[in-house]
Amino acid sequence: MNKAKRKAVIAGNWKMNKTPAEAKELITAIAPLVKDAGCEVVACVPYVDIAAAQEAAKGTNIHIGAENCHWEKSGAFTGEISAEMLKACGVEYVITGHSERRTYFGDTDVTVQKRTRAALDAGLTVIVCVGEYLEQREQGITGELVALQTKIALGGVTKEELSRIIIAYEPVWAIGTGRTATAAQANEVCAIIRGVIAELYDADAAEAVTIQYGGSMNAGNAAELVAQPDVDGGLIGGASLKPADFAAIVEAATKG
Ligand code: 13P
Repeated sequence: MNKAKRKAVIAGNWKMNKTPAEAKELITAIAPLVKDAGCEVVACVPYVDIAAAQEAAKGTNIHIGAENCHWEKSGAFTGEISAEMLKACGVEYVITGHSERRTYFGDTDVTVQKRTRAALDAGLTVIVCVGEYLEQREQGITGELVALQTKIALGGVTKEELSRIIIAYEPVWAIGTGRTATAAQANEVCAIIRGVIAELYDADAAEAVTIQYGGSMNAGNAAELVAQPDVDGGLIGGASLKPADFAAIVEAATKG
């Protein structure tokens, strides 16, 4: 597999952090540090921060994303935001299937598929998250589980649409815990996911698809992770809120 054919993507997932004023401040602090990035730089921010983040990102190489979307275009879904609404706000990226949505808010493989479908239909690029719990890793079913999550999420996605799909492998036990997967563990599962793409589509599609690692990626460990042959960048939680740390990760991905 030729890594040079893929552009690495470093995406921040701010989770439930930052007010609009703070979002403006954070983007403004990050922008000069990442202006020469050789990878795609994305900040996925809370819905209420989208306008402020976009304003601050104007004229920079930072792309703005959201952290979730609903699958219906509109209707009686109190508290939800549709992919169409995000698109209308100028959002380019959206995360689907994050483990925190699956664990705390009842997202399932089927709803992840529906959200992914809606996001593609709205013209967004989708960062689809997959990953195992620690018990599942210990049981030895990581590969099968992640393969199944990937297959279900991509149900109905065409080869053409795959250019707007990024898969993020995020082992749940590594998220926010400071316990990162080893570079070998991250690469192994990213390679399994790439194999699934080859099986569902073809070798060209597998070679072209961006597969990120996420889970306690930081300024210190990013270089080794993103240097792996099947790891094309990262989805960053905590470290994306710290400009210098996020910039160091972007730099690591630029060097690849
Ligand atoms: P941390 O980088 O804080 O572990 O979070 C990872 C994550 O969940 C990104 O989506």
